[in-house]
Amino acid sequence: MNEPFDAVDVIVTKRDGGRLSDAQVDWVLDAYTRGVVADEQMSALAMAILLNGMDRAEIARWTAAMIASGERMDFSGLSRPTADKHSTGGVGDKITLPLAPLVAVFGVAVPQLSGRGLGHTGGTLDKLESIPGWRAALSNDEMMRQLEDVGAVICAAGTGLAPADRKLYALRDVTGTVEAIPLIASSIMSKKIAEGTGSLVLDVKVGSGAFMKDAERAGELARTMVELGTDAGVRTVALLTDMAVPLGLTAGNALEVRESVEVLAGGGPADVVELTVALAREMLDAAGRPDADPAAALADGRAMDVWRRMIAAQGGDPDAELPVAREREQVVAEADGVLTTLDAYAVGVAAWRLGAGRARKEDPVQAGAGVELHARPGDRVRAGQPLLTLHTDTPERFGRAREALAGGVVVSPDAAAAASPAPRALVLDRVAAG
Ligand code: URA
Repeated sequence: MNEPFDAVDVIVTKRDGGRLSDAQVDWVLDAYTRGVVADEQMSALAMAILLNGMDRAEIARWTAAMIASGERMDFSGLSRPTADKHSTGGVGDKITLPLAPLVAVFGVAVPQLSGRGLGHTGGTLDKLESIPGWRAALSNDEMMRQLEDVGAVICAAGTGLAPADRKLYALRDVTGTVEAIPLIASSIMSKKIAEGTGSLVLDVKVGSGAFMKDAERAGELARTMVELGTDAGVRTVALLTDMAVPLGLTAGNALEVRESVEVLAGGGPADVVELTVALAREMLDAAGRPDADPAAALADGRAMDVWRRMIAAQGGDPDAELPVAREREQVVAEADGVLTTLDAYAVGVAAWRLGAGRARKEDPVQAGAGVELHARPGDRVRAGQPLLTLHTDTPERFGRAREALAGGVVVSPDAAAAASPAPRALVLDRVAAG
């Protein structure tokens, strides 16, 4: 095939701070997917984008070209509007589990295509796979039927959506170019737009346990994604939420399912309930149900009814006992005082090392492994009081998990605690189309 561009010219344009034309963007992503642009050339271009950025129209075109590399799903045949949520990932972030059935209570279909965890943040599919019998892989027909009958589906994203992104993301991972905001935004949004949801709520996490450690960059990512969704005709809103501290009191697969079921039963930790309700309100509003009362549907068991049907429809037994790790160890307070630090990243790495997460994408995870928290920042504790319980099937992992927690769990004497800053609000900001 006679190629209309030369990869080196495209790289040099971006290296020198220029903008790529629509035709260059379309060609470079298509040629990369075909193997005509080599990995080392795409690496150089990704680095030039990281260093010099892209303007709004360039990012939109880049996203459209990634969508065009694969299939698009179409939910327009459903009798209900659709709404989806995407979280940029955090520690203890089990919100999808109660949120999808909660939104479906109000006649809004939730097609939640999810992934597995890699690194210190957990994956929604890993969590649900701790439920005996539950299966993540659904055909498009099964997904449509479940959306019509139950209203909510959480399943694995097929390989047909934005294949250019899969190839590029793997390359970015090994070339120090994951952090480029245009590339993150287009990666996330190409998959969500190709999925075909009518509205989308983004939960952009900020803090040590998140991908974006500072609020300024998280805000820029949120604005870029809201613009991309809006330009593509998807009603898109983003909340910036705190990820300096883990969400709820558990990090780990079956531990998080148990906590989600507590929330669906009308209990559970206050922060998990608060964020679930805040995101549900945004999804319902975006899907044209502004008068719905998600807090009531969580408290009175309607969301639990949908959860049970959603799990059963995918072969899971909602009444089955969840797996429990074979071994436990407690981390206790060494002195009286106030818990001033409970660092999300430290807890995430500890849960990962205990076996809840994987280092390579083909590794198995332990369903019962993870960290259970017994205190939150601001709580007064006594010497010897348990702060955390570590769970694993493989006790040789306890040592490395404790190392990960060093400096991340701090009990301060009263005077020092009084001088330390108050915990941040959970919802830090909201970004909508301007
Ligand atoms: N998640 C994605 O899907 N893509 C990125 O680039 C980063 C996070």
